[in-house]
Amino acid sequence: MAPPCNGLEEATGNSEGDIVREAILIDGKAFAERIRQDIRDDVAALRRDYALTPGLAVILVGEDPASSIYVRNKGEQTRAAGMQSFAHHLPAETSQNDLLHLINQLNDDNRVHGILVQLPLPGHVDTQAVLAAILPEKDVDGFHVINAGQLAVGQPALTPCTPLGCLMLLHDHLGSLRGKRALVIGRSTIVGRPMAQLLLTADCTVTIAHRYSTDLPSLCSEADIVVAAVGIPELVKGAWLKPSAVVIDVGINRVPARDPELAAQGKTRIVGDVAFEEARQIAGAITPVPGGVGPMTIACLLHNTVKAAKATLSRRNTGFRAA
Ligand code: GUN
Repeated sequence: MAPPCNGLEEATGNSEGDIVREAILIDGKAFAERIRQDIRDDVAALRRDYALTPGLAVILVGEDPASSIYVRNKGEQTRAAGMQSFAHHLPAETSQNDLLHLINQLNDDNRVHGILVQLPLPGHVDTQAVLAAILPEKDVDGFHVINAGQLAVGQPALTPCTPLGCLMLLHDHLGSLRGKRALVIGRSTIVGRPMAQLLLTADCTVTIAHRYSTDLPSLCSEADIVVAAVGIPELVKGAWLKPSAVVIDVGINRVPARDPELAAQGKTRIVGDVAFEEARQIAGAITPVPGGVGPMTIACLLHNTVKAAKATLSRRNTGFRAA
Protein backbone atom coordinates (compact mmCIF):
# COMPACT_ATOMS: atom_id res chain seq x y z
CA MET A 1 0.00 0.00 0.00
CA ALA A 2 1.32 3.47 -0.86
CA PRO A 3 2.25 5.51 2.23
CA PRO A 4 -0.10 8.34 3.16
CA CYS A 5 1.09 11.65 1.77
CA ASN A 6 1.71 13.19 5.21
CA GLY A 7 4.83 11.00 5.38
CA LEU A 8 3.59 8.97 8.33
CA GLU A 9 2.77 5.33 8.35
CA GLU A 10 -0.66 4.33 9.52
CA ALA A 11 -1.33 5.05 13.17
CA THR A 12 -1.41 1.94 15.35
CA GLY A 13 -2.30 1.38 19.00
CA ASN A 14 0.30 0.26 21.53
CA SER A 15 -0.43 -1.98 24.53
CA GLU A 16 -1.71 1.05 26.50
CA GLY A 17 -4.06 1.98 23.67
CA ASP A 18 -2.09 5.15 22.84
CA ILE A 19 -1.83 6.14 19.22
CA VAL A 20 1.70 5.40 17.99
CA ARG A 21 2.91 6.72 14.66
CA GLU A 22 6.02 5.15 13.28
CA ALA A 23 8.31 6.67 10.71
CA ILE A 24 8.58 5.19 7.25
CA LEU A 25 11.77 3.15 7.02
CA ILE A 26 13.89 4.28 4.09
CA ASP A 27 15.19 1.06 2.58
CA GLY A 28 18.69 1.81 1.27
CA LYS A 29 19.33 -1.85 0.56
CA ALA A 30 16.46 -2.09 -1.91
CA PHE A 31 17.28 1.29 -3.47
CA ALA A 32 20.95 0.32 -3.89
CA GLU A 33 19.88 -2.86 -5.68
CA ARG A 34 17.83 -0.76 -8.12
CA ILE A 35 20.88 1.43 -8.80
CA ARG A 36 23.07 -1.63 -9.33
CA GLN A 37 20.54 -3.02 -11.84
CA ASP A 38 20.66 0.28 -13.79
CA ILE A 39 24.45 0.13 -13.68
CA ARG A 40 24.51 -3.45 -14.98
CA ASP A 41 22.32 -2.31 -17.91
CA ASP A 42 24.55 0.73 -18.55
CA VAL A 43 27.72 -1.36 -18.45
CA ALA A 44 26.25 -3.93 -20.85
CA ALA A 45 25.34 -1.10 -23.28
CA LEU A 46 28.82 0.46 -23.05
CA ARG A 47 30.42 -2.90 -23.78
CA ARG A 48 28.07 -3.64 -26.67
CA ASP A 49 27.99 -0.21 -28.33
CA TYR A 50 31.48 1.14 -27.59
CA ALA A 51 33.58 -1.91 -26.63
CA LEU A 52 34.17 -0.09 -23.37
CA THR A 53 34.33 -1.96 -20.05
CA PRO A 54 34.46 0.44 -17.10
CA GLY A 55 37.34 -0.38 -14.75
CA LEU A 56 37.81 0.46 -11.08
CA ALA A 57 41.15 0.22 -9.27
CA VAL A 58 41.04 0.03 -5.48
CA ILE A 59 44.17 0.46 -3.38
CA LEU A 60 44.33 -0.80 0.17
CA VAL A 61 47.42 -0.08 2.26
CA GLY A 62 47.73 -2.26 5.36
CA GLU A 63 45.47 -4.78 7.06
CA ASP A 64 42.77 -2.75 8.81
CA PRO A 65 39.97 -5.35 9.19
CA ALA A 66 37.05 -2.99 8.45
CA SER A 67 38.85 -1.51 5.42
CA SER A 68 39.67 -5.01 4.14
CA ILE A 69 35.97 -5.96 4.24
CA TYR A 70 34.92 -2.74 2.47
CA VAL A 71 37.56 -3.27 -0.22
CA ARG A 72 36.56 -6.89 -0.78
CA ASN A 73 32.89 -5.84 -1.14
CA LYS A 74 33.86 -3.12 -3.59
CA GLY A 75 35.74 -5.64 -5.76
CA GLU A 76 32.88 -8.17 -5.68
CA GLN A 77 30.22 -5.60 -6.57
CA THR A 78 32.39 -4.14 -9.34
CA ARG A 79 32.70 -7.55 -10.99
CA ALA A 80 29.00 -8.32 -10.42
CA ALA A 81 28.15 -5.14 -12.37
CA GLY A 82 30.15 -6.44 -15.35
CA MET A 83 33.08 -4.05 -14.80
CA GLN A 84 36.78 -4.74 -14.44
CA SER A 85 38.16 -4.68 -10.91
CA PHE A 86 41.85 -4.03 -10.22
CA ALA A 87 42.79 -4.72 -6.61
CA HIS A 88 46.10 -3.45 -5.20
CA HIS A 89 46.74 -4.63 -1.68
CA LEU A 90 49.96 -3.12 -0.36
CA PRO A 91 51.76 -3.75 2.94
CA ALA A 92 51.26 -1.20 5.75
CA GLU A 93 54.92 -0.10 5.47
CA THR A 94 54.60 0.89 1.77
CA SER A 95 56.36 4.22 1.24
CA GLN A 96 54.51 7.28 0.05
CA ASN A 97 56.69 7.32 -3.08
CA ASP A 98 55.75 3.76 -3.99
CA LEU A 99 52.08 4.59 -3.49
CA LEU A 100 52.37 7.70 -5.68
CA HIS A 101 54.19 5.63 -8.31
CA LEU A 102 51.30 3.13 -8.40
CA ILE A 103 48.77 5.95 -8.71
CA ASN A 104 50.71 7.39 -11.65
CA GLN A 105 50.63 4.00 -13.36
CA LEU A 106 46.87 3.76 -12.82
CA ASN A 107 46.40 7.33 -14.09
CA ASP A 108 48.10 6.23 -17.35
CA ASP A 109 46.21 2.95 -17.65
CA ASN A 110 43.34 3.23 -20.16
CA ARG A 111 41.55 0.23 -18.68
CA VAL A 112 41.18 2.09 -15.37
CA HIS A 113 38.42 4.73 -15.27
CA GLY A 114 38.20 5.09 -11.51
CA ILE A 115 40.83 5.03 -8.76
CA LEU A 116 40.00 4.72 -5.08
CA VAL A 117 42.52 4.75 -2.25
CA GLN A 118 40.87 3.29 0.83
CA LEU A 119 41.12 5.61 3.85
CA PRO A 120 42.46 5.90 6.44
CA LEU A 121 46.05 5.50 5.24
CA PRO A 122 48.90 4.60 7.63
CA GLY A 123 50.23 7.59 9.58
CA HIS A 124 53.51 7.94 7.65
CA VAL A 125 51.61 8.71 4.42
CA ASP A 126 50.38 12.23 3.59
CA THR A 127 46.75 11.56 2.66
CA GLN A 128 46.27 14.91 0.89
CA ALA A 129 49.34 14.33 -1.31
CA VAL A 130 48.02 10.90 -2.27
CA LEU A 131 44.52 12.15 -3.08
CA ALA A 132 45.98 15.04 -5.10
CA ALA A 133 47.97 12.58 -7.24
CA ILE A 134 44.81 10.92 -8.61
CA LEU A 135 43.68 12.42 -11.92
CA PRO A 136 40.49 14.38 -11.11
CA GLU A 137 38.63 12.60 -13.93
CA LYS A 138 39.46 9.23 -12.32
CA ASP A 139 38.74 10.41 -8.76
CA VAL A 140 35.56 8.36 -8.22
CA ASP A 141 35.67 9.17 -4.50
CA GLY A 142 35.29 12.88 -5.31
CA PHE A 143 37.99 13.77 -2.75
CA HIS A 144 40.39 15.64 -5.10
CA VAL A 145 40.35 19.40 -4.49
CA ILE A 146 39.30 19.96 -8.11
CA ASN A 147 36.18 17.85 -7.61
CA ALA A 148 35.52 19.33 -4.15
CA GLY A 149 35.90 22.83 -5.62
CA GLN A 150 33.59 22.11 -8.56
CA LEU A 151 30.99 20.77 -6.16
CA ALA A 152 31.37 23.90 -4.02
CA VAL A 153 30.70 26.22 -6.97
CA GLY A 154 27.79 24.10 -8.19
CA GLN A 155 29.55 22.71 -11.29
CA PRO A 156 29.31 19.07 -12.39
CA ALA A 157 31.83 16.97 -10.47
CA LEU A 158 32.56 13.47 -9.32
CA THR A 159 30.81 13.56 -5.95
CA PRO A 160 31.71 11.67 -2.75
CA CYS A 161 29.75 8.44 -2.66
CA THR A 162 28.14 8.47 0.79
CA PRO A 163 26.59 11.96 0.52
CA LEU A 164 25.55 11.22 -3.06
CA GLY A 165 23.74 8.14 -1.77
CA CYS A 166 22.06 10.19 0.97
CA LEU A 167 20.91 12.75 -1.61
CA MET A 168 19.45 10.01 -3.81
CA LEU A 169 17.51 8.60 -0.85
CA LEU A 170 16.19 12.06 0.03
CA HIS A 171 15.05 12.75 -3.54
CA ASP A 172 13.46 9.31 -3.74
CA HIS A 173 11.48 9.99 -0.58
CA LEU A 174 10.72 13.70 -0.89
CA GLY A 175 11.01 14.53 -4.59
CA SER A 176 12.08 18.17 -4.69
CA LEU A 177 14.13 19.39 -1.70
CA ARG A 178 13.62 23.07 -2.60
CA GLY A 179 13.11 25.29 0.43
CA LYS A 180 13.57 22.51 2.97
CA ARG A 181 15.55 23.28 6.11
CA ALA A 182 18.41 20.78 6.24
CA LEU A 183 20.71 20.18 9.18
CA VAL A 184 23.96 18.32 8.54
CA ILE A 185 25.65 17.15 11.73
CA GLY A 186 29.37 16.65 11.06
CA ARG A 187 31.76 18.50 8.76
CA SER A 188 34.08 15.76 7.50
CA THR A 189 35.43 15.98 3.96
CA ILE A 190 34.06 12.49 3.26
CA VAL A 191 30.44 13.17 4.27
CA GLY A 192 29.43 16.39 6.08
CA ARG A 193 30.92 19.10 3.86
CA PRO A 194 29.99 17.56 0.49
CA MET A 195 26.54 16.67 1.88
CA ALA A 196 25.96 20.31 2.75
CA GLN A 197 27.07 21.40 -0.74
CA LEU A 198 24.73 18.92 -2.39
CA LEU A 199 21.79 20.06 -0.26
CA LEU A 200 22.57 23.69 -1.02
CA THR A 201 22.65 22.94 -4.75
CA ALA A 202 19.27 21.22 -4.26
CA ASP A 203 17.94 24.58 -2.92
CA CYS A 204 17.77 23.63 0.76
CA THR A 205 18.47 26.09 3.55
CA VAL A 206 21.48 24.36 5.06
CA THR A 207 22.94 24.43 8.56
CA ILE A 208 26.15 22.55 9.35
CA ALA A 209 26.62 21.58 12.99
CA HIS A 210 29.95 20.39 14.40
CA ARG A 211 31.67 19.78 17.70
CA TYR A 212 31.58 23.48 18.68
CA SER A 213 27.94 24.06 17.73
CA THR A 214 25.72 24.99 20.64
CA ASP A 215 22.17 23.89 21.25
CA LEU A 216 21.97 20.98 18.84
CA PRO A 217 18.45 20.06 20.07
CA SER A 218 17.08 23.41 18.94
CA LEU A 219 18.88 23.19 15.55
CA CYS A 220 17.33 19.72 15.09
CA SER A 221 13.87 20.88 16.07
CA GLU A 222 13.79 23.30 13.11
CA ALA A 223 15.05 20.86 10.49
CA ASP A 224 12.89 19.18 7.84
CA ILE A 225 15.91 17.04 6.96
CA VAL A 226 18.55 15.83 9.43
CA VAL A 227 21.70 14.12 8.16
CA ALA A 228 23.73 12.75 11.07
CA ALA A 229 27.34 11.98 10.15
CA VAL A 230 29.31 12.60 13.29
CA GLY A 231 30.34 9.16 14.58
CA ILE A 232 28.81 9.53 18.06
CA PRO A 233 26.53 6.61 18.97
CA GLU A 234 22.86 7.63 19.29
CA LEU A 235 23.70 11.33 19.69
CA VAL A 236 20.47 12.58 18.12
CA LYS A 237 17.50 11.98 20.41
CA GLY A 238 13.93 11.43 19.26
CA ALA A 239 12.64 14.37 21.33
CA TRP A 240 14.94 16.77 19.40
CA LEU A 241 13.25 16.06 16.08
CA LYS A 242 10.54 17.96 14.31
CA PRO A 243 7.58 15.65 13.75
CA SER A 244 7.65 14.46 10.12
CA ALA A 245 11.38 15.22 9.71
CA VAL A 246 13.31 12.97 7.33
CA VAL A 247 16.31 11.55 9.16
CA ILE A 248 19.34 10.14 7.34
CA ASP A 249 21.68 8.32 9.70
CA VAL A 250 25.19 7.88 8.31
CA GLY A 251 26.69 6.63 11.59
CA ILE A 252 28.08 3.12 11.99
CA ASN A 253 29.16 2.78 15.63
CA ARG A 254 30.01 -0.41 17.48
CA VAL A 255 28.72 -0.43 21.09
CA PRO A 256 28.38 -3.14 23.77
CA ALA A 257 25.49 -5.59 23.34
CA ARG A 258 22.25 -4.58 25.06
CA ASP A 259 22.19 -7.72 27.22
CA PRO A 260 24.71 -7.14 30.07
CA GLU A 261 25.75 -10.80 30.05
CA LEU A 262 26.54 -10.68 26.35
CA ALA A 263 28.25 -7.32 26.81
CA ALA A 264 30.40 -8.84 29.54
CA GLN A 265 31.46 -11.50 27.02
CA GLY A 266 32.59 -8.69 24.72
CA LYS A 267 29.61 -8.98 22.32
CA THR A 268 28.74 -5.82 20.43
CA ARG A 269 26.04 -4.35 18.21
CA ILE A 270 26.01 -1.63 15.58
CA VAL A 271 24.09 1.61 16.14
CA GLY A 272 23.86 4.84 14.19
CA ASP A 273 24.30 8.46 15.24
CA VAL A 274 20.54 8.65 15.91
CA ALA A 275 18.67 7.00 18.80
CA PHE A 276 16.64 4.95 16.35
CA GLU A 277 13.84 3.57 18.52
CA GLU A 278 13.00 7.03 19.90
CA ALA A 279 13.44 8.79 16.58
CA ARG A 280 11.15 6.46 14.65
CA GLN A 281 8.28 7.48 16.98
CA ILE A 282 8.67 11.14 15.96
CA ALA A 283 10.24 11.35 12.50
CA GLY A 284 8.32 11.06 9.25
CA ALA A 285 10.95 8.81 7.73
CA ILE A 286 14.28 7.41 8.83
CA THR A 287 17.11 5.25 7.53
CA PRO A 288 17.84 2.21 9.70
CA VAL A 289 21.37 1.20 10.69
CA PRO A 290 22.33 -1.16 9.17
CA GLY A 291 20.46 -1.25 5.86
CA GLY A 292 19.96 2.46 5.25
CA VAL A 293 22.81 4.59 3.93
CA GLY A 294 25.50 1.86 4.08
CA PRO A 295 24.48 -0.11 0.96
CA MET A 296 24.21 3.12 -1.04
CA THR A 297 27.92 3.97 -0.79
CA ILE A 298 29.25 1.18 -3.01
CA ALA A 299 26.31 1.55 -5.41
CA CYS A 300 27.30 5.22 -5.83
CA LEU A 301 30.95 4.24 -6.29
CA LEU A 302 29.90 2.04 -9.22
CA HIS A 303 27.71 4.89 -10.49
CA ASN A 304 30.70 7.27 -10.40
CA THR A 305 32.92 4.74 -12.16
CA VAL A 306 30.43 4.39 -15.01
CA LYS A 307 30.16 8.19 -15.15
CA ALA A 308 33.97 8.48 -15.37
CA ALA A 309 34.07 5.83 -18.11
CA LYS A 310 31.35 7.59 -20.11
CA ALA A 311 33.30 10.85 -19.85
CA THR A 312 36.23 9.21 -21.68
CA LEU A 313 33.86 8.54 -24.59
CA SER A 314 32.85 12.20 -24.71
CA ARG A 315 36.56 13.13 -24.72
CA ARG A 316 37.25 10.60 -27.50
CA ASN A 317 34.65 12.48 -29.55
CA THR A 318 32.67 9.35 -30.39
CA GLY A 319 29.45 11.28 -30.67
CA PHE A 320 28.53 9.95 -27.22
CA ARG A 321 27.02 12.57 -24.90
CA ALA A 322 26.96 11.86 -21.19
CA ALA A 323 23.52 12.50 -19.68
N1 GUN B 1 36.93 5.15 4.23
C1 GUN B 1 35.70 5.33 4.77
N2 GUN B 1 34.83 5.78 3.84
C2 GUN B 1 35.54 5.90 2.70
C3 GUN B 1 35.18 6.32 1.39
O1 GUN B 1 34.04 6.69 1.08
N3 GUN B 1 36.20 6.31 0.47
C4 GUN B 1 37.46 5.91 0.80
N4 GUN B 1 38.39 5.95 -0.17
N5 GUN B 1 37.81 5.52 2.00
C5 GUN B 1 36.85 5.51 2.95
